[in-house]
Amino acid sequence: MIASREAFERAAELRRELERHNYAYYVLDAPTVPDAEYDRLFRELEALERDHPELATPDSPTRRVGGAPMPELVPVRHAVPMLSIRTETDTTAGGVIAFDTRVRNALELPPEAPPVEYLGELKFDGLAINLRYENGVLVRGATRGDGETGEDVTHNVRTIRQIPLRLAGEAPPVLEVRGEIYMRRDRFAELNERQRAAGEKTFVNPRNAAAGAVRQLDPRIAARRPLSFFAYGIGETSGWDLPATQGELLEAVAAFGIPVCEHRVVARGAEELIAFHDRIAALRDSLPYDIDGVVYKVNRRDLQRRLGFVTREPRWAVAHKYPAQEEITRLIDIGVQVGRTGALTPVARLEPVFVGGVTVTNATLHNQDEIDRKDVRVGDWVIVRRAGDVIPEVVASVPERREGELPRFDLLARYPTCPVCGSHVVREEGEAVARCTGGLVCPAQRKQALLHFAGRRAMDIEGLGDKLVDQLVDGGMVKTPADLYKLGLVALANLPRMAEKSAANLLAAIDGSRHTTLARFIYALGIRNVGEATARDLARHFGSLDALMEADEERLQAVPDVGPIVARSIVDFFAEPHNREVIEQLRAAGVSWEEGVPSTPESGAAVGKTFVLTGTLPNLSRDEAKALIESRGGKVTGSVSKKTDYVVAGADPGSKLAKAEALGVPVLDEAGLQRLLDGGE
Ligand code: IVH
Repeated sequence: MIASREAFERAAELRRELERHNYAYYVLDAPTVPDAEYDRLFRELEALERDHPELATPDSPTRRVGGAPMPELVPVRHAVPMLSIRTETDTTAGGVIAFDTRVRNALELPPEAPPVEYLGELKFDGLAINLRYENGVLVRGATRGDGETGEDVTHNVRTIRQIPLRLAGEAPPVLEVRGEIYMRRDRFAELNERQRAAGEKTFVNPRNAAAGAVRQLDPRIAARRPLSFFAYGIGETSGWDLPATQGELLEAVAAFGIPVCEHRVVARGAEELIAFHDRIAALRDSLPYDIDGVVYKVNRRDLQRRLGFVTREPRWAVAHKYPAQEEITRLIDIGVQVGRTGALTPVARLEPVFVGGVTVTNATLHNQDEIDRKDVRVGDWVIVRRAGDVIPEVVASVPERREGELPRFDLLARYPTCPVCGSHVVREEGEAVARCTGGLVCPAQRKQALLHFAGRRAMDIEGLGDKLVDQLVDGGMVKTPADLYKLGLVALANLPRMAEKSAANLLAAIDGSRHTTLARFIYALGIRNVGEATARDLARHFGSLDALMEADEERLQAVPDVGPIVARSIVDFFAEPHNREVIEQLRAAGVSWEEGVPSTPESGAAVGKTFVLTGTLPNLSRDEAKALIESRGGKVTGSVSKKTDYVVAGADPGSKLAKAEALGVPVLDEAGLQRLLDGGE
């Protein structure tokens, strides 16, 4: 089918619109349309291009991802060589003065001549790239390589949403934009978290992750790596009236829709450059990306030309570095830190090292798998990274510097018991982390355990929130949940910011929680892997706490939905004498629950039926509706299928409602659900 003029125009219009939204979203960070609208426009364009392949253009947003892998990276000769910058080794103010003096001497300025104007920029820590636009369309992205010849990485550059495939405004016939591809620190951390979760190797730093992504053969891999871009210069241009200064040049580049970093300043003379250097040094930790210094450039391009180059470095620019964010040091020992959830995190004890602006003696090693993957051993030389205000981490060992044989580190062998409370440490199958089993007694987990215990779906102690738990624990008034039941009015009312009335209310809530159900009590204990539903199943199956405490793994697995992992967690929990003690103390404090096998409804409209909830119900929360259905013998699942008996729909239902209607599954509102459960339908 030959595309009509109308189709042609619509495709062009869609492309322009999508590129505009893309720019607003990825460069300005200020979305102009909801995601769904963007998706709709994108799909419309995709469909048009599918029906009329002759409409597809290289600058179409549909072409960002999905190209075929390259057999190899092809060398590209740069039309204008990509230079490097001289690094000023003197990182004090003296370095700036020396640069300014060199510039003034080379320009033969007399001492009384006014200060030279510079542009202060950030020195981004990523990978240099040349973007070639012809008639406004991105035709090539190439790495720097040796400065003369780089590699063609267009297929990967296209996947970077911040880089426009078509320039905004009136573009010249040829414009090469140069800048740095980098990865933000938060995106880097997320990427490594994903890698860790998938059991894959983590990246040492954002620069390596970015450089690795750009040099991939398969663009689908690059597309999954969250990359960003800042322009800092130009290469070849034609038919463009070049702005007179570096500052104006960057403004012009930004006007073409290309990201330019906001942290740049016109500085007069060395003094103002020093002020810029110091201001950015103070800002460095809070920037969302790594920089390794600042760059000073003579602002006027005519002066730049007069200054020229020495070997491959311009005389008109210099880089002024900050302290490194990565250093090598010796790993003296590996300790552990116990988190709020009982997770044991191995912590490297290091020979003190100055990195990222502070002296570091401890750095995280994440978990045993990471220690194994990075092959980190006590006594090794390791690379420590501290960037931004994130906690320092050991990113790699330097095995070449290992002296002799060093044993591998085994966290469980070294810490069979929790260093904080002495309870056993276990590592469940398939889990990366080792955990302390002393949930109820471990001081490290105390606050978390108390909050969980008091939670609405556990013992339901109203008013016992974060702040109060902090106060009670930090003040030494509460160590285990049993201590809650020993609190007195005077002690509570004496807490800062606690009125007598609130103290009395809290005591009443604690008192009111004394009598509960077995299911809630089991859930309140905070046994790992035992959620509310499992607690209910366990209560139903065993009928009493004593029976549950005595059950072995085999008997536990007879409970529906209890598999080996859950069974193991329960056995580990009750095997811990500290935990049994707390249960005894709770009993002694008058906490009780209904025992005896609770009856499951055997008849009723909901028994054995499967429900799906969607949208917001007028009165019941999702949890409440679920609990209600389950209490009447029904089951609640997440997605609609032919096996669903009822869909309960509230306001703003999702696609589940449409699916229910398509499959002919009966749909109820909240009132309908109530009638059904009450036996009315
Ligand atoms: S200008 C003629 N500006 O640093 C000057 N480079 O050795 C050419 N870099 O790998 C470079 N931030 O990728 C310039 N604001 C900045 C920069 C910057 C980072 C990198 C560049 C190159 C190295 C220069």
